[in-house]
Amino acid sequence: MKLNRLRRTIDDARLVLAAGLVLIALGCTPRATLTGETATVRGAELLAPLKQELKQALMAGMQEGPLNAISVCKDQAPAIADALSVDGIEIGRTSHRLRNPANVAPDWVTAEMQSYLGDAADRAPKVVALLDDREGYVEPIVVQALCIACHGETLAPDLAAHIDEAYPEDEATGFEVGDLRGVYWVEYPRGSRSSTQ
Ligand code: HEC
Repeated sequence: MKLNRLRRTIDDARLVLAAGLVLIALGCTPRATLTGETATVRGAELLAPLKQELKQALMAGMQEGPLNAISVCKDQAPAIADALSVDGIEIGRTSHRLRNPANVAPDWVTAEMQSYLGDAADRAPKVVALLDDREGYVEPIVVQALCIACHGETLAPDLAAHIDEAYPEDEATGFEVGDLRGVYWVEYPRGSRSSTQ
């Protein structure tokens, strides 16, 4: 009796192992999403200048009022991301509710963003294995108080008019502090190292 149960357990274990090997052989390992410090260091490092420069541009722009900050954002945000997209590295930010339709993301980023949207408790950055020996990194962008002036429920009328004019397809209002605004993303050749290392 005991022996039978033991056999069954061993058979079960074999089955699980076999299934796993078949999956690996077929190349269909579960979507390789990694979290944790070691895995995410490279992506975080590549994103740092984008985040820093955007923040600086926003702060500098806001000092002369939100209307001015919009122009700064409009001209500088895409230019900053472009300037950092070199050597097989592509970098950007996106949202499920875009202000600028040009900020649309690659498909793998959209998939990760959907998974963040589906799980409010999951705000950890992730590393994703991509085709052609490339790797991707995503990091959630959460709405802060500072963002509400331009992404909140009610905007100042002159601001709203300005945004309407610059971004006729704007979907990026109605956010509250703590909401997921979108993600930063970067993709790069696996194993590549930045000049800072
Ligand atoms: C002064 C107004 C203003 C403020 C304040 C502001 N934004 Fe924006 N935001 C914009 C504009 C304008 C764009 C479009 C930029 C472009 O053309 O790429 C934008 C675009 C974005 C995008 C890119 C995706 C998209 O919708 O096109 C994200 C993400 C974003 N903002 C997040 C934030 C966050 C987070 C904050 C607060 C830390 C913030 N913004 C504060 C005006 C603002």
